[in-house]
Amino acid sequence: MQIVFIGPPGVGKGTQANMLVDKYGVLKISTGDLLRDAIKAGSPLGNQAKGYMERGELVPDELVLGLVQEKVSIPQSNLKTFIFDGFPRNIQQAIELDKIMLNIHSKINLVIDFTMDEEDRISRLSGRRMCPKCQRTYHIKFSKPKVDNLCDICSVQLVQRSDDNESVIRQRSAVYWEHTRPLLEYYKKQEILKSIDASQPIDKVFISLENLIAPLLGA
Ligand code: AP5
Repeated sequence: MQIVFIGPPGVGKGTQANMLVDKYGVLKISTGDLLRDAIKAGSPLGNQAKGYMERGELVPDELVLGLVQEKVSIPQSNLKTFIFDGFPRNIQQAIELDKIMLNIHSKINLVIDFTMDEEDRISRLSGRRMCPKCQRTYHIKFSKPKVDNLCDICSVQLVQRSDDNESVIRQRSAVYWEHTRPLLEYYKKQEILKSIDASQPIDKVFISLENLIAPLLGA
């Protein structure tokens, strides 16, 4: 069972993917998280990706695909359910993902399109805080940590992502509409596309998500 989350920046994909990981033990593959890890580690790939991410542009496909391939190739991975969060981001990546799936004798079964208004997303992102160690996200109003400004799991100080400023958020949204949005048609044709109203509170979105996913997970 392989699932793709699609949606513009700040719509809540990462938040919901983490909740599925916690409840169902699925594996999340977030290319944004993997790229930020590479930047933090100072790897050659991270150094190449950094400028693109700071400008809110897509990182070149060959860099991103290598990261995904590596994650999917771990032993026994074909027995697991993956949640692809923020990947694919364009048609070429979707075609490559289909090939990667074929290689592990699997396929994408469900694609979830998260939808909500742009202005509300911007306010979500300006209040987002992230743990620099585990990358778990919080929100100053909607998803507070147990202790002010400390990660619940790692107990380290939360930070704001460097691309969470209004001009870069708007650029990331523009990139979404130009490059990622056409994927909806790609997956609609395969009859695996479902949509979720992501403007509801976090727990309500999760219930909608579970209604779509749990039967497929056999839960
Ligand atoms: P990435 O990290 O994937 O960022 P994104 O797609 O812009 O998505 P976000 O992480 O901003 O949003 P989200 O939907 O996960 O929201 P979240 O759950 O955190 O990518 C970053 C960059 O990496 C890209 O710009 C690009 O440069 C590069 N990149 C990544 N993948 C790539 C690829 N495949 N190809 C090329 N380049 C790639 O929620 C946001 C906030 O809202 C949080 O504070 C949360 O607590 C809060 N919140 C969540 N849900 C709710 C709710 N229902 N109600 C109230 N608050 C909520």
